[in-house]
Amino acid sequence: MAGRQLKELFKAFHDRDELAFRRAGMEIIEEEQAKHHNSLARDLQKLLVASGDPIDSGSTVIVPTPPKDREGEWDLGEARHPERLLEDLVLAPRLVEALDGIADEVRHWPELDAASIPRRQRLLFEGPPGCGKTTAAEALAAELGRPFLLVRIDAVVSSYLGETASNLRRILDYANQAPFVVLFDEFDALGRSRDDQAEHGEMKRVVTAFLQMTDRYRGPSLLLAATNHSGLLDHALWRRFDEVLTFRKPTVHELRRLLRLRLKRVRHSGIDIDHYASNLKGLPHSAAEKLLVDARRHALLRRSQTVEPNDIEAVFSSVMSRRW
Ligand SMILES: Nc1ncnc2c1ncn2[C@@H]1O[C@H](COP(=O)(O)OP(=O)(O)O)[C@@H](O)[C@H]1O
Ligand SMILES: [Mg+2]
Repeated sequence: MAGRQLKELFKAFHDRDELAFRRAGMEIIEEEQAKHHNSLARDLQKLLVASGDPIDSGSTVIVPTPPKDREGEWDLGEARHPERLLEDLVLAPRLVEALDGIADEVRHWPELDAASIPRRQRLLFEGPPGCGKTTAAEALAAELGRPFLLVRIDAVVSSYLGETASNLRRILDYANQAPFVVLFDEFDALGRSRDDQAEHGEMKRVVTAFLQMTDRYRGPSLLLAATNHSGLLDHALWRRFDEVLTFRKPTVHELRRLLRLRLKRVRHSGIDIDHYASNLKGLPHSAAEKLLVDARRHALLRRSQTVEPNDIEAVFSSVMSRRW
């Protein structure tokens, strides 16, 4: 650890400057990672984001308050400590590999910078609803030991359309202060095709502003965008992402794994997992999850500690007939 970083840590402590502390801490962690001191880096990371309390309450964690719009009325984002992990997700092997690769790369940004190799810092997650885009973004934050910033697109593009670009600027300034994983979720609300008649004028300027701002973004945060409607996105927008990860509906095998995973910590008896996995074919992961949540609720309401086949049968048709 360099003397400069130590001084920054001490100064941040003295000034009670949570952001500066966090910044210096992350720099040290990244340096240790670059030196392949992996377990030390992981321990430090855990300490830095171990809980949700602010630093001066005796714990080590610091999540600065996200910005609001100009009127101070709406939070433009929600910052939180990620709780969901990659291991809670059932994803195709190529996606797991891609997400692991990205996490690994983020840990090695300092080395990439030193070698003048461009970072992959702006990624697009695309695919049908309920297949894990939002969850994977949060899990990536957990993996990296970073706080998760969920951008509220509805607040960013709200009423005063002229303010939208300034709101984006506020978000990016915020993301510049500390290393977050930032998710522009339901991104199509912002980036709808520039050819779309209804969205002309102001929206066109917004998309251009977003492209320019993120083009220049070289801050400490990883920027993710997610969309259910990749077809609606402008081609110019697509090309500007450093990587596009496609999420797909689960195979029957993946549905089986998901049902098994979610039943692991639930007392159950006689449930034919293969049967339900086949029946759920064509539906997203979220449908399989809802089936079990509904069945557990049903079991609980009939005062049973154990989920049984009749609990699943009772909720099955309503889950299947819903729009997903
Ligand atoms: N690949 C997956 N593996 C396990 N659970 C999933 C997966 N995808 C979605 N889910 C579950 O479905 C719900 C909705 O997922 P979400 O990440 O919001 O999907 P999306 O952002 O793609 O619409 C979450 O509660 C999540 O736990
Ligand atoms: Mg989502």
